[in-house]
Amino acid sequence: MLINFTLNHKSVTIDAPPDITLLTLLRDYLGLTGTKEGCAIGECGACAVMLDGRLVNSCLTLAPQVSGRELVTIEGISQPDGRPNDLQENFIEYGAVQCGYCIPGMVLAGEALLKRNPNPTRQQIRRAISGNLCRCTGYQQIVDAIEATAKDRTAHAKS
Ligand code: FES
Ligand code: FES
Repeated sequence: MLINFTLNHKSVTIDAPPDITLLTLLRDYLGLTGTKEGCAIGECGACAVMLDGRLVNSCLTLAPQVSGRELVTIEGISQPDGRPNDLQENFIEYGAVQCGYCIPGMVLAGEALLKRNPNPTRQQIRRAISGNLCRCTGYQQIVDAIEATAKDRTAHAKS
């Protein structure tokens, strides 16, 4: 079936079977391998993407469910020239990246949070990433990176 949607700010139409997951559509049909497969049963958040601004697990979403909607993957949040955005830079700056496998989902969880709550508490940050598992970092540095980005963006918006 033909699936039409907005992917990383561009309109796309792709011919794909109706019974595949969004994760498979992204990785195998569209070549966007930044979205990772971890558990494939909705428990790790490695496959998280933003659908209409909300975080969803692409392993639990059927591909046709994105029809007519706006999807953003990790490939869609970098700066226009391809450099990492401010949140990604802060992940690097605060040592929030080790093996990296959870990071696309973590960054999108952070972006989805900052979209609906530009000035979150640390507890709200922890809650926002609670569906994303990281086996490496202990989470502290990830919370630090999201918190620093919120502060930078708020300061920038005021100036
Ligand atoms: S791969 Fe989707 S939640 Fe783990
Ligand atoms: S950095 Fe390795 S799983 Fe999070």
